[in-house]
Amino acid sequence: MSEVDAHLGCHLQCLATYLVPVIVLFVVLKFTGVFRSLRLKAQSFAMQKLAPASDALPAVKNAKKALFKTLHDFKTPPVILEVGAGECRNVEYYPDNSSYIVVEPNKNFDQPLRKRVAEAGAHLKLEAVYTDYAEKLEHVESESIDAYVMTHVMCCFKDIEVVLKEARRVLKPGGRLYIFHHFVGPNASIRTPRFFLEHYIIMPILTGIMECNPDMYIEAAIRRHFPKTDLQIVELPFNMISLRYHLISDSLKERISE
Ligand SMILES: C[S@@+](CC[C@H](N)C(=O)[O-])C[C@H]1O[C@@H](n2cnc3c(N)ncnc32)[C@H](O)[C@@H]1O
Repeated sequence: MSEVDAHLGCHLQCLATYLVPVIVLFVVLKFTGVFRSLRLKAQSFAMQKLAPASDALPAVKNAKKALFKTLHDFKTPPVILEVGAGECRNVEYYPDNSSYIVVEPNKNFDQPLRKRVAEAGAHLKLEAVYTDYAEKLEHVESESIDAYVMTHVMCCFKDIEVVLKEARRVLKPGGRLYIFHHFVGPNASIRTPRFFLEHYIIMPILTGIMECNPDMYIEAAIRRHFPKTDLQIVELPFNMISLRYHLISDSLKERISE
């Protein structure tokens, strides 16, 4: 055997010794759901650490007050469905005595969200917490909801058309859909090093953990399903370009006569 052949044999043996077990371990972790479970834990941990500071910013508070303005115009306390509610950080904006239904697919939020509703949302009646997905709200009857809320959730969806169709199904005529959505703003440019860093390094990590795709601009889709939509774009004081621009949207599901 030549020296080259001996080297090659040694490399192949090393590969077989180290690479094969790593691949087998990866496949086992993937198919037993260990990666998914770790990702969901990381998502809930990150949200609980990051969201309180961003929600406390006066500009964010003002934007959310503007978003939920018409929520206070319902004649009787509304039935509110919040989808992808995370830790239920919007409860402080909801009217007294509202009935509150939560849909959150990540079970790691279950304890923190119940704690938060008990504390900051004591003025609400927590009716139910479902581990469903926005694409198919199995437990929510058609035309049973006055106000459907999604904040920082639209960026998680692969098919927003399905989600908006399902939102229309569960809303009562006269009900409203409230969306708070961050996206890569109109001035973001691939030429700035900062945008490059965020777009190709930070965002893929966030996408992996949070399933967040900030490249979506969703106005046309909202208007297709909800022609009666009031929508504005605001710039918030976030350092990250992909968090800075927000779409604030309040849509009405028309009554038959409208
Ligand atoms: C970035 S967090 C936002 C949490 C909360 N809405 C807020 O504003 O703080 C995104 C949330 O959407 C949830 N989510 C992801 N995919 C979803 C889906 N298909 N249906 C419903 N919720 C989903 C996640 O579990 C997570 O709680």
